[in-house]
Amino acid sequence: MTTPRWISSWLPLLQRPFTRSCPRAATRRLLHPPEPAAAALTAARRGSCTPQSRAFGLSACRLKSTDDFYSSGYTHDDDDEEEEEEEEEDEDYLKDSEVEELFQQQVPTGIGQGHHRVFIVHPDVKWGSKKQYLTTAELMMAEAVGLVNTLDNWTVVDKIILSTKTPEKKKIFGKGNFQSLTERIRQTAGITAVLVNVERLSALSEREFEEAWGVKVLDRYSVVLHIFRCNAKTKEAKLQISLAEVPLLRSRLKNEMVNLDQQGGGSRYIGGSGETLYEVQQRQLKEREMKIRSALEKLRKKRHLLRSQRKHREFPIVSVLGYTNCGKTTLIKALTGDSGLQPRNQLFATLDVTIHAGQLPSRMTVLYVDTIGFLSQLPHQLIDSFSATLEDIKHSDLLVHVRDISHPETVNQKVNVLNVLKNLQIPDRLMSSMIEVHNKTDLLENYQSAESDVLPISALEERGLDELKTAVEEELVKSTGKQILNLNVNLSTPQLSWLYKEATVQDVQVNADEGSAVVKVIISAAAHGRYKKLFGGA
Ligand code: GTP
Repeated sequence: MTTPRWISSWLPLLQRPFTRSCPRAATRRLLHPPEPAAAALTAARRGSCTPQSRAFGLSACRLKSTDDFYSSGYTHDDDDEEEEEEEEEDEDYLKDSEVEELFQQQVPTGIGQGHHRVFIVHPDVKWGSKKQYLTTAELMMAEAVGLVNTLDNWTVVDKIILSTKTPEKKKIFGKGNFQSLTERIRQTAGITAVLVNVERLSALSEREFEEAWGVKVLDRYSVVLHIFRCNAKTKEAKLQISLAEVPLLRSRLKNEMVNLDQQGGGSRYIGGSGETLYEVQQRQLKEREMKIRSALEKLRKKRHLLRSQRKHREFPIVSVLGYTNCGKTTLIKALTGDSGLQPRNQLFATLDVTIHAGQLPSRMTVLYVDTIGFLSQLPHQLIDSFSATLEDIKHSDLLVHVRDISHPETVNQKVNVLNVLKNLQIPDRLMSSMIEVHNKTDLLENYQSAESDVLPISALEERGLDELKTAVEEELVKSTGKQILNLNVNLSTPQLSWLYKEATVQDVQVNADEGSAVVKVIISAAAHGRYKKLFGGA
C-alpha cells in the first residue's frame, strides 16, 4: 500500500510512523504528535533533557533557577548560535569561582556554621510611632522563634517580651528592665546568642549588649541574612547576600575600631600611606561593595538581553508569590508534577527564584516562577538587595498570590505582601489580574471565605487545582492577547507542524478524504499574523 501524499508530506516533520489502517490512532497522533510541551514535561519530570525536549527549549527542562532559565533556550537558527556565543562571553566576566570568592571572603563574624542556643527578647513598644498596630507582641515573638528554628542546629533556650518606652535609646529598654534582662541572660545556662527582635540594631547598641551579656547579639537582619546565606545556590543570590552583608561588615568595622581606639591603635597612620587603619579598611569595604554591585549589574544586563531575546518564544510566565511558608513550592509541585521540588516547613526555603513548566487544561504550556517568600518588617536594605530577583515578577504575564489561610496572621501577611508589591511598582495590569489563592484550607474546619474572587485550595491534598488552572488559563488568554481560533489546515503543507511550534494546539479534527483538518489553537495576534502571511488567510 502506498502512503497517501498528504500523509507523507508531514510525516517526516512529526517523525512518527503510522499507517492509514488505524484512523483513530492517526487522529490521536495528530492530536499528540511532536508534543513539544508534553515531551518537555516528561523530560522535566525525569530531570533530563532529551534532544527533542532541548529543541523546545524553555519548557523542556526542569529549570532550577532563573540563571538556568535565562541561559537556556532552543537553538534553531543562526541568531540563536550568536546568542550562545554572547552568553559564553558573558560567562567569562563572572566565573563561579569569582562569585564564590566574593561570597566566602568576608562573612560577618560571630554567626558561623555551627550550633546556637538562642535567647530571644522582644521589645514591646506600647505607644508612639514605633508601636506595631497590625500585630501583637506574641505573634511577633512567634515569628522570631520560627526564624531561629529554621536554622539547623539552632534552638531557642528562653524568650521574653519586655515592654519599653524608649526603643530608640542605645539600650532600648529602661534601666530596671535592662538590668533584670541582663541577670536572666547571665543566669540561663548555655546561651550562645541573644536575638533582639528588632529590624536592625545600631552598631553602638550591639556593642553595648555584647559587653553586658558576654555573648553574640543578633537582630532580625542578621538572622534572616544568615538563613539566606545557608540557602543560597545561584550566583545572583550569593552576590545579593554579599551586598546585603556590607552594612553588617560596616558595623563590625566600627566596633572593631572603637576597641582599637581604646587601645590607641585605630586612628594611627599606616606607614607612609597617609591613611589610618580605619580608613584603609573602610576603603577596602567600599571597593568590595562596588565590585559586588558591578557583578550584579552585569547579571542584570544579561537578564535584560536574554529576556528580550526569549520574547518570541511565547511561553506565558506565571509568578507564584506570597508570604514565606504559605505553600508556594507545594502548589507549584502539585501544578507541574515536578518531583524535584522539595517543599519544607521552613522560612525562606526558596531563596533562588526557580522556574517550572506545567500544562493548563488546554495543554498550553506555562512557566511557573517560584519566588522568594515575603516576611513582615523584612529590613529595607535586604529588600533592596533582592529587588533584582523580584524584578522578574514585573515581567510575568500573571501573578498568583498564595495565602496560608490557616495562619493566625493571614490578614496581616496579605497586607505585607501587597505593600512589598506596591514598593516594587508592579504594573497595574498585573495587580488587577492577580489571582488570590487561599491555601491550606484542609487545616480549617468548614472553611468559608468572607472574601469574593478568591480560590480555595489545598496544595498538599491537591484540592481545587483544576479550578485554579482554569482561572490561570482564562486570565492568561486575556492578558497575553491570545485568541482561540479554529483554523482550516491543509495537511499537505507544513501548516500543522508550524502551529504546533508557534501556538498551542488544542484539538485536531481530521478530514482524511480531503487531506485537511480543523485545528483549534490558542494563538497570539502576532503569531496569527505570521501564519496568515506564510499560509494565506485561513
Ligand atoms: P518559602 O520557600 O519558605 O517561602 O515557603 P513556601 O511558600 O514555598 O512553602 P512550602 O511549599 O515550602 O510549604 C511550607 C509548609 O507548608 C510545608 O510543610 C508544606 O507541606 C506545608 N503546606 C503547603 N501547602 C499546604 C496545604 O495545602 N495544607 C497543609 N496542611 N500544609 C501545606
